[in-house]
Amino acid sequence: AKILVLHGPNLNLLGSREPDIYGHESLADINQRLAAQAQAAGHALDCYQSNAEHELIGRVHQARDDRTATILVNAGALTHTSIALRDALAAVAIPFIEVHLSNVFAREPFRHHSYLSDIAVGVICGFGGDSYRLALEAAIQRLPADP
Ligand code: DQA
Repeated sequence: AKILVLHGPNLNLLGSREPDIYGHESLADINQRLAAQAQAAGHALDCYQSNAEHELIGRVHQARDDRTATILVNAGALTHTSIALRDALAAVAIPFIEVHLSNVFAREPFRHHSYLSDIAVGVICGFGGDSYRLALEAAIQRLPADP
């Protein structure tokens, strides 16, 4: 099946951005590992990063047309602000898992609320780059293998 990984604003800076919080791994490293993990399980993975809310929304809409089966979403700060991204995910009705590198609940109070969590299949946060691996494992569990 087709799996989409969506990365929101500032995640292009991973590796150099606040490494004490987000680690030293780059986004390219993470994406590469996820692609290998998906391939080993017989699935196709597409990764998309944007700093622009409307681009992320457009990619979610496209996911319905390209028959994406499931989405992993790290919306970055848009997690805490974007009703529009929430509405896009609800509109396409594709099951998604919310992902964060950091444990948002151990951080500033403004990161404790998410506009996505209550419509997500589940949420994984606090394991650094490993959060994505765990989320992908959970997503794959729920997918039929491609013929
Ligand atoms: C983040 C947490 C958000 O609060 C923050 O705005 C990010 C990254 C994470 O992966 O830990 O940009 O989503």
